[in-house]
Amino acid sequence: MLRKNLADLARSDLDGRRVLIRVDYNVPLTEDGAVSDDTRVRATLPTLRHVLECGGRPVLLSHLGRPKGQVVPSMSLAPVASVLEEELGAPVRFVPSTDTDEAVIASKNLGPGEVLLLENTRFLPGETTNEPAVAERFARLGDVFVNDAFGSTHRAHASVVGVAGFMRPAVAGFLVQRELEALSGLRLAVGRPFVVILGGAKIGDKIGLLETFLGRADSVLIGGAMANTFLSAMGASTGRSLVEQDAVPVAGRFLATGGERLVLPTDLVVADPGAPDASDAIVVPAEAVPPELAALDIGPDSRETFAAIVREAKTVFWNGPMGLFEKPGFDAGTVSVARATAECTAAGGLTVIGGGDSAAAIRQAGLSDAVSHVSTGGGASLEYLAAGSLPGIEALDPA
Ligand code: 3PG
Repeated sequence: MLRKNLADLARSDLDGRRVLIRVDYNVPLTEDGAVSDDTRVRATLPTLRHVLECGGRPVLLSHLGRPKGQVVPSMSLAPVASVLEEELGAPVRFVPSTDTDEAVIASKNLGPGEVLLLENTRFLPGETTNEPAVAERFARLGDVFVNDAFGSTHRAHASVVGVAGFMRPAVAGFLVQRELEALSGLRLAVGRPFVVILGGAKIGDKIGLLETFLGRADSVLIGGAMANTFLSAMGASTGRSLVEQDAVPVAGRFLATGGERLVLPTDLVVADPGAPDASDAIVVPAEAVPPELAALDIGPDSRETFAAIVREAKTVFWNGPMGLFEKPGFDAGTVSVARATAECTAAGGLTVIGGGDSAAAIRQAGLSDAVSHVSTGGGASLEYLAAGSLPGIEALDPA
């Protein structure tokens, strides 16, 4: 998957030219619409600074959330513009449309040292279906294309894949480059035991990749909401826990073939999902969640089992929290996996964390610097590890 990156372009390729950069500013917002975690914004700064230093005019495209082709004001990228302006220390203009003449004119009017951020690409119906007409309109916004949206590079969408077909040069940005270098370490020389930890809620995205991980890893630990789907497939009582019904048959097949490599929680911390805090939480066996309660974390026995396996590993890939870690009282499982991962790293292991929630959890535990690499992409890192390529990378110029 050798592709050109920004460093392969000469200054003259960028100087005075509009550089259309797909970034992934799918950032978490508070209820008041403020950006609560700017990691993904900061991660793009090296690319933006380089383009500006070479005299380029960055025009940024991103999605935020899943507005399904409609304008959803709470998913506007407007709040991100001021965060970027502060982080970058350069003027950032925001235009509340994406593939319009207004956006094209704004891109042509950009002054030296200025950046243009456009509105959420997923407000357009043809974005996620990769409509060529939408991709072609995106291509009018720049003279050079850079994909620096690692977290979205597994999505064959118009602003990631389609647009690259209409623009030359089309290259990877520094964030994408750095992510691929870090993740290829996990694909190439995997030290054993190789342990994969999967949790979180985007089960549909992850379950299909499980076959690859079961074929490659020595242990696959399943926690968080993902575990509920497996427990349901085992016939357990899951109460009000989040279970992805569509995925239950697939989970059942993996239970039948996974053998001892597939490790599920044996106990769970459960509570009323609407309760304001964890004061009424109790620990129950994993197969017996009371009907009125929901699993919100893995229990103490599971924490110990998971941590012991992770500590012994030589390679760890972790995607998705073990429970509702953002709520006090339901973070113990996630924190214990974070600590065990840090211990594995300290003992010389290669450890990679993928995905916004796991990255936030490791930061919350104060351990971001104690692991080998924290990826900005959850689904993207999973898919790259499983498949060895990503649609958004394949679309770029060969090296
Ligand atoms: C992510 O947060 O994983 C990326 O931004 C992709 O978002 P998506 O899962 O909605 O495509």
